[in-house]
Amino acid sequence: MASPSSTSSFLPFFLFLLISTSLCYGYDDRTVPEGDVDLLEFPLNLEYLEAEFFLHGATGFGLDWFAPDLTMGGPPPHGARLAFLDPFTRDIVMQFALQEVGHLRAIQSTVRGFPRPFLNLSAEAFSTIMNNALGRVLFPPFDPYANSINYLLASYVIPYVGLTGYVGANPKLRGAYSKRLVAGLLGVESGQDAVIRMLLYERGALPVVPYKVTVAEFTDRISNLRDRLGHGLGTKDEGLLVPRREGAEGRIPGNVLAGDKDSLAYDRTPEEILRIVYGTSSEANPGGFYPRGANGRIARSHLARKY
Ligand SMILES: *[C@@H]1O[C@H](CO)[C@@H](O)[C@H](O)[C@H]1NC(C)=O
Repeated sequence: MASPSSTSSFLPFFLFLLISTSLCYGYDDRTVPEGDVDLLEFPLNLEYLEAEFFLHGATGFGLDWFAPDLTMGGPPPHGARLAFLDPFTRDIVMQFALQEVGHLRAIQSTVRGFPRPFLNLSAEAFSTIMNNALGRVLFPPFDPYANSINYLLASYVIPYVGLTGYVGANPKLRGAYSKRLVAGLLGVESGQDAVIRMLLYERGALPVVPYKVTVAEFTDRISNLRDRLGHGLGTKDEGLLVPRREGAEGRIPGNVLAGDKDSLAYDRTPEEILRIVYGTSSEANPGGFYPRGANGRIARSHLARKY
């Protein structure tokens, strides 16, 4: 029979156990509610794209060399190349590249995931976007792999789309572990976007050679294009220089980070993202970086036909 003293010491211990298990739930429990699965898998599409673009840009080799298992057997990308980068930019791009490998692993070890989609990362895929952004055919065609500025402008196109997707996904998630994963991805993705924007902001007034268009104007046109293609509600994208009333607190034209009237990050739905990365303004019609469409249940459910 327990003595009164051992009973009284058991009660606090029992309470401690109860509280510590309920605190641990959420951090350690990796169960993902069924409704979260598609939302967590969808961003793999963008993470594959970023991994391949950054790995190739920095080294000339992609996931098939660095982490073949993470491709889950999907086809190799088309047209990705080693970029002609200065050593400082190459170092940063290599860091981003390896971060994307981690992101792919983190998502795939949380949900089943899907194979790498077929990606078109050719210079032509990027020059088509830049022509659409500027509303005229650039000559010579824009080559993302030609130098550091061009590569950074091409990079401006991608992580930002991922970050708006993570902001959009977050309120729809139910599981604590799902939210933790998305917050972790969002933090680093927006950090990448900030670094790219900062490097471009420093060179904002320089012309993108040989075009008579400045770096800041390029970013403005790319942001406008994304907003047009996504046709979400209102502005969700902003270049590096904005009319003063659209800057932070409506008081400043410099716009090194994009944000709404309260300087909160914009959100986008998976459908808005597909319209942008397909370059077709339609989640039913693939193209752009994803000639055969993105993968996963959300993207496949919108396709007008089988690819
Ligand atoms: C890649 O994109 C370019 C530009 O849109 C296009 O001309 C080319 O056919 C595409 N390549 C593949 C393999 O889809």
